[in-house]
Amino acid sequence: MSAPITVVGSINIDLVFCTPRMPAVGETITGNGFHQVQGGKGANQAVAAARLGGEVRFVGAVGRDDFGTSALVSMRAEGIDTGAVATVDRPSGVAGIFVAEGGANSIVIAPGANDAVSPEHVECAAPVITSASYLVCQLETPLASVTRAVALAHAAGVRVVLNAAPAQPLDDALLAQIDYLIVNETEAAQMSGIAVTDAPSALAAAQALRARGAGTVLVTMGAAGVQVCGASVQQFLPAFQVKVVDTTAAGDTFVGAFTVALATGYALAEAADFAQAAAAIAVTRMGAQTSIPARDEVLDVLNQRGKAA
Ligand code: RIB
Ligand code: NA
Repeated sequence: MSAPITVVGSINIDLVFCTPRMPAVGETITGNGFHQVQGGKGANQAVAAARLGGEVRFVGAVGRDDFGTSALVSMRAEGIDTGAVATVDRPSGVAGIFVAEGGANSIVIAPGANDAVSPEHVECAAPVITSASYLVCQLETPLASVTRAVALAHAAGVRVVLNAAPAQPLDDALLAQIDYLIVNETEAAQMSGIAVTDAPSALAAAQALRARGAGTVLVTMGAAGVQVCGASVQQFLPAFQVKVVDTTAAGDTFVGAFTVALATGYALAEAADFAQAAAAIAVTRMGAQTSIPARDEVLDVLNQRGKAA
């Protein structure tokens, strides 16, 4: 059984254009496919946690439009409790995504309803936050709302997981309330001022963020692996090697999987390993929520590595 997880975050519809290469400024090119996929960092992380066995509740907002309706229907179908998702008079969040051959992507987000996730909205959802075991946030909803959610959780003894993506400056008072800070190389570098290029520099960046108050820091480094840095565990875990199709939502899959593993009782390094296996599967598939694996698939990947070793 997994302890309850509440995600406060963004919901987007992803409009994905597959293209042979990124268009240059002023250029029009013909792509080779289009997909409309459920996305948004918050929703992706919630779906990952739910598919991997978590009991998940969501705090967020969608617009009064077809995109909003489809997002809600789809999240409910995943078993996510959407009782604290507001429907507001703004367009639902949309992400325009170009995916080039080889898997590189470029994304433009129109936050719309996600910007309506206000501190007041979070306050109204306080019982959903304070009754959870884990709170998961990202930075696609207003920082004031994330700050409010984190404070509510921290005061209630709820463990806080923050994925600081997309990167933005955070103050030490917020970091001091984060039990698990998950950042990629770019975010780690921006927040710590240390260029992250390998395991030693990732560890140095993680230690700098811990010195600013964060509890355990995980620096995800894509195909290389993840640097875990806590009070007693400092370990670099290599990633599973796979053929990359589309990296969209790989980071979100990591965050959701890591949290559900902790909520199921895994130790830190085991949870990070489970999360890397889940993210490795996600990069082999197109799209955000379309690429997030089920629990058995992740266990298979972990078992196969066990056999190969
Ligand atoms: O992290 C991937 C997500 O970022 C996409 O699903 C897109 O909606 C953007 O929010
Ligand atoms: Na993907």
